[in-house]
Amino acid sequence: MAKTNNTKITILGGGNLGAALARGLVASRKHKANQITITRRNLKKLDTLKTEGFGVSASNTEAIKNADVIVLAILPQQIQAVLKDIGNSVDVKNQLIISLVTGAKNEAIAEHMPAKARIIRVMPNTAIAIRESMTCICITNASKVDIKITKDLFDLVGETMLLEEEYIRSATALCSCGVAFFLRAIRAAAQGGTEIGFHASDAIRMAAQTAKGSAALLLERGRHPETEIDGVTSPQGCTIAGLNEMEHQGLSSSIIKGIKTSYEKADNLYPDE
Ligand SMILES: NC(=O)c1ccc[n+]([C@@H]2O[C@H](COP(=O)([O-])OP(=O)(O)OC[C@H]3O[C@@H](n4cnc5c(N)ncnc54)[C@H](OP(=O)(O)O)[C@@H]3O)[C@@H](O)[C@H]2O)c1
Repeated sequence: MAKTNNTKITILGGGNLGAALARGLVASRKHKANQITITRRNLKKLDTLKTEGFGVSASNTEAIKNADVIVLAILPQQIQAVLKDIGNSVDVKNQLIISLVTGAKNEAIAEHMPAKARIIRVMPNTAIAIRESMTCICITNASKVDIKITKDLFDLVGETMLLEEEYIRSATALCSCGVAFFLRAIRAAAQGGTEIGFHASDAIRMAAQTAKGSAALLLERGRHPETEIDGVTSPQGCTIAGLNEMEHQGLSSSIIKGIKTSYEKADNLYPDE
């Protein structure tokens, strides 16, 4: 049995990402549900998490009492109200604040916190629920100790990369929005599969496993995607014919443009007062 960690974690905002993080940490078997408290205003919507053993609350100030780590998993347009609510209750010495809020720079969070508050910006994705997140951790203005606490936590729920703050917006577009991009690609492949003879449920399973295997080829062998593509495309074959048709329709171009559009949008999500 893995040794469990006694860190008390409070997640403010038990929506998609907050709930996924909580479940991912418990799935790692290093954290227990009863050491994690989750909040949201609509307490009823935390019933399932409550039955899974998590602490739940509608009061952010109550929930952060005794927490070692406070995770902000609130939408950018809602975070200022939460920061004003908890600002005076944060114990700077003993509490680390981890912000998952898209678009909110460290200094914007710090404005509402006591002086010298320890804040680390982190950008994970929803695959955190199954411990397969690509999580980018902002190291700008953070101490080595706080970076280690944060990295140790997010290493339990996927891969981590340490980045300066100027790259967090790029990480948001590529890795957090990226989940939706790859899922849409899988859905499109499955729709193609249905056109050529498979029931939808079989087609999705076949497309998803093919996508998983393709990603694993890159991650395990460390080769460039084109090297793996060369291995699938025989001369005058059906793969190169299909691939070139997709490129004629703008496959690579549309993905690149979509990622750049998300990058632009990610800069305007946090409302300046
Ligand atoms: N989803 C992703 O893939 C992803 C990836 C990276 C980063 N992010 C960022 O992570 C943050 C959360 O995203 P999300 O997708 O989890 O959003 P979400 O599903 O809308 O969750 C936000 C939660 O915050 C709660 N909330 C709002 N005001 C609150 C308050 N005053 N006190 C306590 N809880 C409050 C909401 O519940 P009530 O309405 O019941 O209060 C809601 O459950 C956002 O900043 C997002 O940009 C998301």
